[in-house]
Amino acid sequence: MSLISLDILRLRNLLSVSLEPDPHLNLIVGPNASGKTSLLEAVYLLGRGQSFRTPENGRLISDGEADCVVAGRFRKGDFVHRIGIRLAAGERRIRIDGRGVDSRAELLERVPVRIVDPSLYRLLEEAPRLRRRFLDWGVFYHDSAFLPAWRRYRRALQQRNAALKAGDREGAQLWGRELAKYGKIVDRSRRCYLQAFEARLNAVGRRLGLGAEITVRYLPGWNAENALDAVLRDDLQRDLRYGCTHSGPHRGDFSILVDGHGVRHRFSRGQMKLLVHALVVTQGQLLDRPAVLLIDDLASELDLENQALLRELLVQTQEQIFITATQPEVLAGFGSQRHRMFHVEQGRVVPA
Ligand SMILES: Nc1ncnc2c1ncn2[C@@H]1O[C@H](COP(=O)(O)OP(=O)(O)OP(=O)(O)O)[C@@H](O)[C@H]1O
Ligand SMILES: [Mg+2]
Repeated sequence: MSLISLDILRLRNLLSVSLEPDPHLNLIVGPNASGKTSLLEAVYLLGRGQSFRTPENGRLISDGEADCVVAGRFRKGDFVHRIGIRLAAGERRIRIDGRGVDSRAELLERVPVRIVDPSLYRLLEEAPRLRRRFLDWGVFYHDSAFLPAWRRYRRALQQRNAALKAGDREGAQLWGRELAKYGKIVDRSRRCYLQAFEARLNAVGRRLGLGAEITVRYLPGWNAENALDAVLRDDLQRDLRYGCTHSGPHRGDFSILVDGHGVRHRFSRGQMKLLVHALVVTQGQLLDRPAVLLIDDLASELDLENQALLRELLVQTQEQIFITATQPEVLAGFGSQRHRMFHVEQGRVVPA
């Protein structure tokens, strides 16, 4: 699946933009505040139904306007699919091939898209929530049993927490059994994904000169020496006291070791940035369908040698890539590859 046309109306400073991207490599150049990140935001919206910069969709609507619209045509084999999203005050409408769609999962199914931007460089330093989201996005495509189990798990978790808060011991036990049942499936899917992930990550990491051996340590969210249902039973007294569930996949996480060392307090910023790119490229390799990769501000904090290593890695992926930079020189290294270049100037996007 690759994006073959993109139309944006009234999204941030992009009042009316139309472009026809290259199926593989798109280079986007423009000064600060011209609208580069907003352009990536529009593509991301088509695959996720929301922004990566804010949970409030209303912020995407251009000042003084009532709504914003993004429409894309995607080629998949011989077929062309149309996806359209309209955001208005407190409202989001999604249409796929002319049909109204309620769930974001349908977008995810069709357009796997992810963004590498400066906030992702903190992936390995921040609280687990970001890593869980990263992990589960990959697991979603890797194992079709994951999403239904995860939804039921989340529902059971809400119910168990409500019972805990109400001091309802029996309710908490009942929902605890449901939690353990679906938690096991979620755990198995994540574990299996990370196993495949680790092997690929090592190959990618070597190409970026990151170290001899990268280990992905999975942290399931409870002491995995014991079964989750037994842990939930043991935790019950404490959970009732605090009114929340302490153990389970909703607390799951992973960490990365390079040559036996945790990277968080050891890696330089440039190394960390390369490692995050390695994680994202690995995720792309494990997808069962072509995807879209957005990279905002490729050059920041990378020296010329590492920029070249990363460039080589990126051009060999099977994904459709959109890369932004403020300086054309940063993207000049891609010149020998087939690509399309776009200039962004004050909300206007012009093919170069
Ligand atoms: N809702 C909005 N309506 C109109 N303009 C907006 C809105 N939200 C943000 N902007 C403006 O849109 C412009 C483009 O922002 P964007 O973040 O896309 O720039 P950029 O090209 O990525 O810049 P940089 O190189 O600094 O990252 C900015 O001037 C920003 O203030
Ligand atoms: Mg930007």
